[in-house]
Amino acid sequence: MITDTTRYRIRSGAPADIEELAEINAAVHLQAMTGGNPHPGIGAWTRDLFDGHPTVSPADFLVAEEVATGRPVASLVALAQEWRHGEVRLPVVQVELVGTHPAHRGQRLTDRLFAALHERGDRDGVVLHVIEGIPFFYRRFDYEYALSNGAPLVVPAGALPARRPEAALRARPATPADADQLAAVDRALAVQGGLHCPRDAGRWRYELAGRRPDDFVRREVTALTTADDVVVGYAAHAPRPNAAGELAVFAAACARREDWPAAAPVLLAQLAEVGRETGQAADRPFTGLRPLFDAEHPLSRFAGPGVPRRPYAWYVRTGDPVALLDRWRPALAERWRAAGLRWPHESLRIDTYGRAMQLDFRDGELVAVVPGPRSTAPVDDPAVHAAIPLGALLQLVLGYRTLPEVLHAWPDCALRDRTTELFLEAAFPRVAQMVWSAL
Ligand SMILES: CC(C)(COP(=O)(O)OP(=O)(O)OC[C@H]1O[C@@H](n2cnc3c(N)ncnc32)[C@H](O)[C@@H]1OP(=O)(O)O)[C@@H](O)C(=O)NCCC(=O)NCCS
Repeated sequence: MITDTTRYRIRSGAPADIEELAEINAAVHLQAMTGGNPHPGIGAWTRDLFDGHPTVSPADFLVAEEVATGRPVASLVALAQEWRHGEVRLPVVQVELVGTHPAHRGQRLTDRLFAALHERGDRDGVVLHVIEGIPFFYRRFDYEYALSNGAPLVVPAGALPARRPEAALRARPATPADADQLAAVDRALAVQGGLHCPRDAGRWRYELAGRRPDDFVRREVTALTTADDVVVGYAAHAPRPNAAGELAVFAAACARREDWPAAAPVLLAQLAEVGRETGQAADRPFTGLRPLFDAEHPLSRFAGPGVPRRPYAWYVRTGDPVALLDRWRPALAERWRAAGLRWPHESLRIDTYGRAMQLDFRDGELVAVVPGPRSTAPVDDPAVHAAIPLGALLQLVLGYRTLPEVLHAWPDCALRDRTTELFLEAAFPRVAQMVWSAL
């Protein structure tokens, strides 16, 4: 493909782009849903991101502008958020609304937008870029599937409780007055083992009352409360069932893990009621719940076996695996401590066939992750303990695949000895994916 690189320039978004980008995005995204008509929910979401959003501003868009006309013709938006796993804090950018006006396709504008995106993110210390989307496409920008995404099961409507159980816990629609308590639930999740995206009170108020009503990513929130109306959990779900009659559930949480046996029937009954009522109002039957989180999630487990689905996955990319592993250090140190493992050398060297890192230990305990010396042939270099392609390392770090799975699927993942294998297996268990990303 021969492209004219001078015809377009890449720049940051500006407030004046709002209407044109809302229009282009509405016209290019989710066209299968609208039968080729503009998607009002996508237009509203774009406008929300430009105006009144608590963390996103027009400059978070990257725009390809046609030089001759000065008009935007392609864009994407970088949504910065912090994901948590225990003490690990990950600066993540989720890439959304990648679209090119049909009249300007074939110019590799997405290539240029991603190059600018990664340059900006790497400079700003973003350790992970993530994106959902077109199968295979984002591999061309060094993304690898490394987080589960999508429904591992659908719970048929008939398998859900027909009425709310008599229980100490209750469920009701959340209101902006609940924001502080919902933020406290999110803080409590940090120690529950999964990968999460917690919201502070301001962010909760935005979810509950800040978006335009037809914003495509607006969710309804059900609060789980005690009899005294103290909020102890929540479920975030679509406003109504989709065309297949399935009500998507994006997140569900309890501040105390031990509440789940009592909370699950209450939340499931409430979600079933919402599905039935909003389905009826939208003139479509409610067929079931579609939880969009991990099969390990307590609500998935308490919902019963459901109808299995093959989940999709998020694409993930890191520009700095050393920084990523350094961010992951509290989890690694704790896992080795819990397994009673002490590394017998001063350092453990991992080479990704492009980047090299050195994990430094004092008295067997991890103290630092720093760049290591690169090796041209890491598998043959006796100083390298593990040669792990970057995509495989992402899968391990994020708990998407275990070490035996990676060794099975990646022949170029090679370990020096049994001690290294033991250490890395304990370092990278599966992590439940419970991210409800902040869009
Ligand atoms: C995906 C999209 C942004 C690409 O537009 P673009 O940057 O102008 O891409 P180009 O037309 O220059 O194509 C570049 C390459 O990507 C490939 N490509 C383009 N669209 C593709 C798609 N939907 N699926 C798979 N490959 C695609 C092209 O075949 C070309 O491949 P080549 O390098 O082998 O020749 C554009 O097609 C679009 O706006 N689609 C609708 C919205 C959408 O699906 N966005 C992505 C949401 S995750």
